[in-house]
Amino acid sequence: MEKQYVKKTDIPRYINVAVVGLSGAEKEKGAVGVGKSCLCNRFMRSSSNDFEEDHNSLLSNSDFSGRVVNNDNFLYWGEVIKTSTEGTEYTFRVIEQTEFIDDSTFQPFNGVKMDPYIKRCVATKIESAEKLMYICRSQLGIEEKFEQKVLPSGKFNVDGFLCVFDVSVVPGRSIEKQLETVTNILKNIKDTTKPVVLVTTKNDELNESYVQEVQKLVSRKEFKKAIPIVETSACLNVNVDAAFIALAHIIDRFKGRTKIVPYLESVKDY
Ligand code: GTP
Ligand code: MG
Repeated sequence: MEKQYVKKTDIPRYINVAVVGLSGAEKEKGAVGVGKSCLCNRFMRSSSNDFEEDHNSLLSNSDFSGRVVNNDNFLYWGEVIKTSTEGTEYTFRVIEQTEFIDDSTFQPFNGVKMDPYIKRCVATKIESAEKLMYICRSQLGIEEKFEQKVLPSGKFNVDGFLCVFDVSVVPGRSIEKQLETVTNILKNIKDTTKPVVLVTTKNDELNESYVQEVQKLVSRKEFKKAIPIVETSACLNVNVDAAFIALAHIIDRFKGRTKIVPYLESVKDY
């Protein structure tokens, strides 16, 4: 009997991504977060009607224990299909590793029982029973009024990481603090042997000296091969898909050339 070959393009390529970066209470991250949630929001639901800037991690007890947060310190952003410029279809599943803060104590939930963020965020086997996809803050507490998608049961195996670095100036956060945290996260990712792309966020408000610091960081000898950088703005929707596709290409061992266009060049087409 003739063998049935399945064309490579017919097999969905699942790419499970964890988005990580400086997280924690205000004393850790400064006045606002580094942009993990906004990057995920723009990638999962790119139309301007579905983009919200407010994904504050300050939560009530009941929202923390509801089915979306599910007593975890990560969010499941759901699944989306994207096609790369060479025509490969990838199905991305995205989680955001963050740290939720109790709005009555301003301390992290489960603080004492947890590993520090830099260690916890590089987990590659993720599990959370019946956890619902996160859509927006107003969904919390009224989950039944929103589309309900569940994190696939069994282990969610992370295939690669997007490590975020905010290149805008944020009150209450020094560049040294962010550099130290991101360096430690990158070292821990290296130990997992999973691929990583460094995603700079908020390039629409970039500080040139921060951009240079990031370039120095990714070329440090300890990372052996320089880590690719993709410069994004979630607010202006610049290079967001490109960041995820660049990671998918590394995971997929894509043989062609991954075109990474610098922010200032990309923004011209906007
Ligand atoms: P935590 O999960 O709380 O650690 O924060 P986060 O890393 O998820 O940050 P989040 O995406 O919530 O972004 C925090 C704030 O940064 C947003 O409310 C926006 O005001 C701002 N921000 C995010 N992305 C952009 C961007 O592309 N450009 C500009 N100018 N501001 C942005
Ligand atoms: Mg967030």
